[in-house]
This record gives sequence, C-alpha cells and structure tokens, in this order.
Amino acid sequence: MEDFVIRTENLTKVYGHLFWKKKEASLEKLNLQIPRGSVFGFLGPNGAGKTTTIRLLMDLIKPSEGQAWVLGQPADNVKVKQRIGYLPDGPSFSTYLKAYEFLNICAKLLKIPSSERKKRIYEVLDIVKMTEHANSKLGGFSRGMIQRIGIAQSILNKPELLILDEPLVGLDPHGRQELKDIINEQKKAGTNVFFCSHILSDVEKICDHVGILSRGKMLCCGALTDLLSETGYRLVIKAGHDDIMQKFMPEASSSSKLSDGGWELVFKENVEVKKSIDELKREKPDAITYHPSKENLEDFFFRQIASTDKRI
Ligand SMILES: Nc1ncnc2c1ncn2[C@@H]1O[C@H](COP(=O)(O)OP(=O)(O)OP(=O)(O)O)[C@@H](O)[C@H]1O
Ligand SMILES: [Mg+2]
Repeated sequence: MEDFVIRTENLTKVYGHLFWKKKEASLEKLNLQIPRGSVFGFLGPNGAGKTTTIRLLMDLIKPSEGQAWVLGQPADNVKVKQRIGYLPDGPSFSTYLKAYEFLNICAKLLKIPSSERKKRIYEVLDIVKMTEHANSKLGGFSRGMIQRIGIAQSILNKPELLILDEPLVGLDPHGRQELKDIINEQKKAGTNVFFCSHILSDVEKICDHVGILSRGKMLCCGALTDLLSETGYRLVIKAGHDDIMQKFMPEASSSSKLSDGGWELVFKENVEVKKSIDELKREKPDAITYHPSKENLEDFFFRQIASTDKRI
C-alpha cells in the first residue's frame, strides 16, 4: 500500500484554450505528499489555487502539466472515486428533491446495495443533525442546511479519503463544532481528510498537517507541530500571587485572568524575562508554572504570506 493518500508531481494548471491561455498558472508545479492517517488543511488567500487543486485531484479538470495520484491510483482512475467522499465548493443541488430523495440518488450512484441504503441515509442524516428534515425539499433549505446535506452525501460511502472544499462555510458556531466532531470521528474511523478553509482557528484545532498556497505556489507544507515555532513562554501564576502578576504584567504581550483566580501571561522570546522567571521558579516553585508557547496558525499564516509578498 502506498504511504501517501495524495501525491502530486509538478501538478500545474493554466486555464484557457490553446491559443488563449492565461499568462499566469493558477497552479504551478505543485508537489504534495500527504501521509496516510492525516487530516490535512489546505490554506491560502482567495484565488490561491485551492479549488483548482481539488478539482484536479477529483479529475474534474485536466492538468496542463504534471500528475496526481489519490489512494495510490492516478486521479483519472474511475474506480478510485468510489473510495472518495467529495464536498464541492458552494454545493447546489436540485431544489425540488427532498433531502432523503437526493441522498438516495447519491447512494445509488455510489452503488450502495439497496438493502443498506435506507439505514445508511438515516445514519448520515443523524450525523449531520438533519434527520427531522429528511422529507423536506432542498429548495427550502438555508445555506448551512445545504452544507450539512453536502457533508452527509460526502460520507455516505464511508470513504477512505474525504476531500472537502470549504466545509465550514455557511455553518453557525454549533454547525462548525459539529463538523469538527464529524472530522475527528472520521479520523478515528481511519478516514483520511483533505480540506481547505479560511477559518484558521478551526484548522489549527482539526488538522495535523497543513499546506499554504499563494498565487498558485506552495509556500510551505508539513506537520503543524513542526511548522509552528516556539516563540516565547506562557506563565501561569497561581491564585493569591497577584504581586507576581503585577511584576511581570508590563513585559507580557497578553494576559488573561483564569477561572480559579490565577493569571496566564504570554511573553515573546526575551532573555531578561526568561532569567527573572527562572529565578522566581527557584524562589517560589509552587506559585508558577511555565511552558514554551507556540506561534498560532494565524500568525504563522500571515508571516508566510507577508514573506512571499516581499519576494514578489
Ligand atoms: N474556470 C476558470 N477559468 C479561468 N480561471 C479560473 C477558473 N477557475 C479558477 N480560475 C482562476 O484560478 C485561480 C485560482 O482559483 P481557485 O478557485 O483555485 O482559488 P481558491 O484558492 O480556491 O480561492 P478561494 O479561496 O476564493 O476559493 C484564480 O486566479 C481564478 O481566477
Ligand atoms: Mg476555492
């Protein structure tokens, strides 16, 4: 079995016809190797080429150059589609169909045996919390409800690989939390997940690997734990030690009061502050704990994008 669920080699897309091509490639020489068992977040500003990449992986458009493999097969292999779940960007479905009818058509297309269809459709409706709307027409659904039905159809066939284009769009906070739970459950069940999103705080919580694309080029790609660097310290001061809080507060880049009455202060890398904290730890070991603090994904993302803007 191939170690990578998705692999691309110099994958390139220039839209347009032979004599009328766009000058700039929408995707340029993308080399991806996504390990099995990962939840991969594909990030990048509007127009970066994320949807283009997904359409190439789903063989909905053809590459201008290079090649892609999914689940060890070339992306244009028809059989491999049955092992993939796909949610397109901004899905729109026939408005006159009821949710159950729509999922039934999808189940038939996915060749789910007729004896199992009804049970599986109600299972996925339950997962996306839409059971009570099974017999309502899609035309009357809100954007978030359509998104839930899109997610339901993407997991109908218990896919080995889930490819989701902006799955969090249109969902309310509950819906976003539920989708995060669904992705975590899928991961536990052994499904590989590849999705793109602009909601970096959610991506940071769900994904173990990320890639950042900008203007068709991959800026960086890898395990989140490797990419996010340690940039300072997080000092937790136990309740009843406000004197320590007052001493360190002026140097802190952020502070928050904890529910137990203690404080959490975050510091940027600073030799003097680190020395003072080390001294304090020796003097009053029970009053504080401190850990290295990592850069968050949002800061990392903007740092990467800013560095390319300078290069261009
Ligand atoms: N069918 C098309 N014909 C011509 N150009 C296209 C087509 N689809 C996309 N593009 C161009 O390709 C580039 C990448 O678009 P793409 O939709 O892949 O970006 P994206 O990263 O998904 O953006 P978003 O975050 O807005 O969804 C853009 O410059 C876009 O204008
Ligand atoms: Mg897109």
